[in-house]
Amino acid sequence: MKQDQWTAVDRYITDTLVKQDDSLRAALKRSEEAGLPSISVSPGQGKLLMQLAMIRGAKSILEIGTLGGYSTIWLARGMGSGGRLITLEAESRHAEVARRNLDAAGVGSVVEIVLGSALQSLPKLEKQGHVPFDLIFVDADKSSLPEYFTWSMKLSKPGSVIVVDNVVRKGEVLDTSGRDASVAGVRRMNELIAAEERACATTIQTVSLKGYDGFTMIVVK
Ligand code: SAH
Ligand code: DHB
Ligand code: MG
Repeated sequence: MKQDQWTAVDRYITDTLVKQDDSLRAALKRSEEAGLPSISVSPGQGKLLMQLAMIRGAKSILEIGTLGGYSTIWLARGMGSGGRLITLEAESRHAEVARRNLDAAGVGSVVEIVLGSALQSLPKLEKQGHVPFDLIFVDADKSSLPEYFTWSMKLSKPGSVIVVDNVVRKGEVLDTSGRDASVAGVRRMNELIAAEERACATTIQTVSLKGYDGFTMIVVK
């Protein structure tokens, strides 16, 4: 009663309620054919991101970690009209696949893909005046999570929502040894969140077709 069941239930939820459309399916297929890793958010998680954008009435969204643009499509679909989404990606191959997927899904005109290391792109966004963002989805390298959280707070305003993916890591988040750079990144980020008075935060553990993991959600006070 583990991964097989989580996958079967996830498939049931996806088929009955999430109703992923052809553009989203095509985005995953193109990403796989291009050899990108199969680590996009699940359909159910993608739809939750869309719902958060809807609830927030988000007109400006930042994503850190584009891959093939699968989560980007969900987020862009949750934005109100006139909304803009900026997504940061270090790998040009990923960005090229994402551009094709976003255009094919009909959201290409509202999404800017910024190629380069996120820690170099974030200060530029601030200087260019793209801030503050209503919603920020953090889903790139986990060792830099402390820096991504600090930047996300800087690029937010009261009411902004920050979502961070992959923060439970099969329960390895409890490992205090520092052996795993991703786990160390999550734990250091959590210390920063705990010390940040403007952050109202929780973490939800999840099981899905992607296994046992979880996401942190922060509302900026
Ligand atoms: N959000 C995507 C999945 C992102 S996977 C989805 O759910 O569909 C993580 C992505 O972050 C990969 O494409 C990887 O190349 C990118 N990445 C890793 N380190 C990065 C960095 N330092 N700056 C920008 N992007 C980075
Ligand atoms: C990995 C990254 C992710 O963002 C994810 O959701 C799952 C796995 C990874 O780097 O392995
Ligand atoms: Mg992820």
